Amino acid sequence: MASASRARARLAGYLPPCWALCVVIARTPRWAFQGRRCGNTSLQRNLQELGRRISIEVNPDSSKNGGTGSALLRSAERLPPKSSIFVNMVKTEVDHFKDVADTTRLLADEGYEPIPHMPVSRLSTAEEFHGTLDMLTEAGARQLLLVGGNDLRQRNAQNELRFRNVSALLKAEAKSMKAAGIQTVALAGLPDSPPWPGWDEKVATRVLLEKVRLVLEAGLKAEVASQFCFNPRQLVHWLRETATALEAEGLHGVTFRVGVAGPTRLKRLRRIAEICEVPADFLHPGMFDLALGGHDRVAAEGLEDAGLGLSQRDLSPFAGEDGCLGRPELACALAEVEGGFEVPAERSQTGNGSGPSVFVECQEDSEEELVIPKDLLYVLAACDGNLAVNLYPFGGLTQSLSMAKSLRAGEPL
Ligand SMILES: *[C@@H]1O[C@H](CO)[C@@H](O)[C@H](O)[C@H]1NC(C)=O
Ligand SMILES: *[C@@H]1O[C@H](CO)[C@@H](O)[C@H](O)[C@H]1NC(C)=O
Ligand SMILES: *[C@@H]1O[C@H](CO)[C@@H](O)[C@H](O)[C@H]1NC(C)=O
Repeated sequence: MASASRARARLAGYLPPCWALCVVIARTPRWAFQGRRCGNTSLQRNLQELGRRISIEVNPDSSKNGGTGSALLRSAERLPPKSSIFVNMVKTEVDHFKDVADTTRLLADEGYEPIPHMPVSRLSTAEEFHGTLDMLTEAGARQLLLVGGNDLRQRNAQNELRFRNVSALLKAEAKSMKAAGIQTVALAGLPDSPPWPGWDEKVATRVLLEKVRLVLEAGLKAEVASQFCFNPRQLVHWLRETATALEAEGLHGVTFRVGVAGPTRLKRLRRIAEICEVPADFLHPGMFDLALGGHDRVAAEGLEDAGLGLSQRDLSPFAGEDGCLGRPELACALAEVEGGFEVPAERSQTGNGSGPSVFVECQEDSEEELVIPKDLLYVLAACDGNLAVNLYPFGGLTQSLSMAKSLRAGEPL
């Protein structure tokens, strides 16, 4: 995809690297995805808690084009102190790490927890890696997000890289990351299967587990940061499968950050989903609106399946006092009913999977409908309180910060 996508990205006024992360933090995954704790009151509380722990992704500031790092600090609705903030690496020159470091410092000085992206595809030599690591940690980074990078495949084909992939980087350098003062390494996860030939969710999970193992063995904390997606059912499925697989392998204490696209105008969001090759079936209308057929609340027998994969028998026990289900009840049902998921068949290898993506832009264009990630936030709230959301402010920082503020305040979305 690289060159076509990049061309499209340029056309659209974005900069390359592709695929952004969906992020949720599950501090106690085992507990977080089980149990009948769902209900209107706990949902309300959990949504607010999600709001308090929200992180966001910004672009590095640079002399030429102002990034969103300083815009975040100028905002009246900035996130509370200590919030995590991902700092993207948007250009292909290794020198761009200087901008990443500058923005990292800016955020750290203001009491935030910056998490700079480190794409393996930017590192041609061990010296470049060590120089970058020192620069970022001196700037105040105690966490890193390791990703492959969009052009990993091409750069490997041209034999230009010191580390072929994130695992190779971790094998060689996890200990030096720790020695430099890094405490947590975030790794990319992909909740919804991309349309790449050969993509296999199980293989992808194994690769992820291997990376987590390398991180933990070096005495670092591991966090899984995921690409954004639009399918709440697939998201819950992926969280559950991944958390279960980690526990089964004895990889404990891993936190999850689930990426969610912040409020974004419809056309723009579709374009970004296409560029990032994220399945857009439930981008708009969302799964719950489809199931409800445009109503707020519907009796179980009146619901469309709409991809929920839940039977009337699954759904009925979740009906509210009025005998009906709305978004909160659907979220609870999805989060709590086990075994309703099928892994897509007939795909057999990981794709050319690259790293999280990048399109953070401040721009609010048309009068078009704003797509707000209600289904995903409700479903994450229903997964119980120990989750954090990472917002991709595709529709502008202002929109995302203001949604985060409403969540924190317990206001309706
Ligand atoms: C992966 O490779 C396939 C086939 O070569 C290509 O169609 C697809 O666009 C690539 N995707 C990415 C993310 O590079
Ligand atoms: C819980 O129920 C109240 C009253 O029906 C409603 O106003 C509120 O929006 C519901 N909370 C959630 C999270 O849906
Ligand atoms: C990562 O690179 C190493 C070689 O450096 C290779 O052995 C391994 O198979 C690669 N892993 C993946 C998932 O491609």
